[in-house]
Amino acid sequence: MSQDTIKFAYWVPNVSGGLVVSKIEQRTDWGIDYNRKLAQIAEAAGFDYALSQVRFTAGYGAEYQHESVAFSHALLAATTRLKVIAAVLPGPWTPSVLAKQIATIDQLTGGRVAVNIVSGWFKGEFTAIGEPWLEHDERYRRSEEFITALKGIWTTDNFTFRGDFYRFHDYTLKPKPLQQHPEIFQGGSSRAARDMAARVSDWYFTNGNTVEGIKAQVDDIQAKAAANNHKVKVGVNAFVIARDTEEEARAVLAQIIDQADPEAVNAFGDAAKQAGKSSPEGEGNWAKSSFEDLVQYNDGFKTNLIGTPQQIAERIVALKAVGVDLVLAGFLHFQEEVEYFGRKVLPLVRELEQRKAAAKTAAVA
Ligand SMILES: Cc1cc2nc3c(=O)[nH]c(=O)nc-3n(C[C@H](O)[C@H](O)[C@H](O)COP(=O)(O)O)c2cc1C
Repeated sequence: MSQDTIKFAYWVPNVSGGLVVSKIEQRTDWGIDYNRKLAQIAEAAGFDYALSQVRFTAGYGAEYQHESVAFSHALLAATTRLKVIAAVLPGPWTPSVLAKQIATIDQLTGGRVAVNIVSGWFKGEFTAIGEPWLEHDERYRRSEEFITALKGIWTTDNFTFRGDFYRFHDYTLKPKPLQQHPEIFQGGSSRAARDMAARVSDWYFTNGNTVEGIKAQVDDIQAKAAANNHKVKVGVNAFVIARDTEEEARAVLAQIIDQADPEAVNAFGDAAKQAGKSSPEGEGNWAKSSFEDLVQYNDGFKTNLIGTPQQIAERIVALKAVGVDLVLAGFLHFQEEVEYFGRKVLPLVRELEQRKAAAKTAAVA
């Protein structure tokens, strides 16, 4: 397979309640047995990555939450090729502890671990665990120092760093990770999130959006990254509803929204919109999300990967054409739907990618 293929990740359901805030039946379980099997199904289906979630308290019904780094390690131990992205929050984690944890996990798993640096949006959670809550752009200033320190510790001996949040003095980590440096993902939509991605992150994750909305974000980030002489790749969230007919897929979406839990959605919306609005330019995640968008708490319906395998494959290739490198997928019934996606959607994506590449070569010749 050529290097120029779009990559796929799935959300690890390591918190209870699935990925939609709805009372619809979900055959998804947050426990380890279900998740080990899911990781194996995803690996066989052709997924490249699994993304865990970091959560310390319930927020939108996610009553139970497994810790993300420990859980990611368990999934790596149950697989052989899949990369698992452990989500962490600067604040509760320090770069020294995380650098060491990840170096060890990387050594134990043949170099397959990555991290997602989450800057935080949920003030109640920070208050509950006694962590100071910084204002929006300060959270990103801290995250950027966190990432700079992480990379420094992983790649340099006698690392010295003097920041406003973290300090290191002649520090040498041994052993270092097996990979030169494990990939660093980061999420967010605000100006501060994008600017940080364009300076230090390997991957930028954004909430779901239309192709036009994503294109605007990608163009903005890539222009800034080029000016900084930095390379960053882009992943987009999508809640996938793939069914044999479009009617079936649309009916599932309608049921999810009809059975949405308004109290939980509104509680989440209030906390999330506070986070979005609190970025100075008001462009943060969720700043413009409607009630329906919020039922999938990372705006996953907006990406519109809802329909037949053919329709979904075409939309994925359209995302790739505007500069998306990875689709991060959520599902209603994870195990069954990840398997279906691998069997029905992924081969069509690869076929379309090959056709496009062949057409390009023919045009050049
Ligand atoms: C794909 C993706 C995954 C995320 N995972 C988590 C998570 O596990 N835990 C969490 O608290 N926030 C998570 N976030 C939230 C972001 O890190 C960030 O705090 C939020 O998007 C608000 O950012 P903004 O105000 O810069 O837009 C995630 C965001 C995205 C796009």
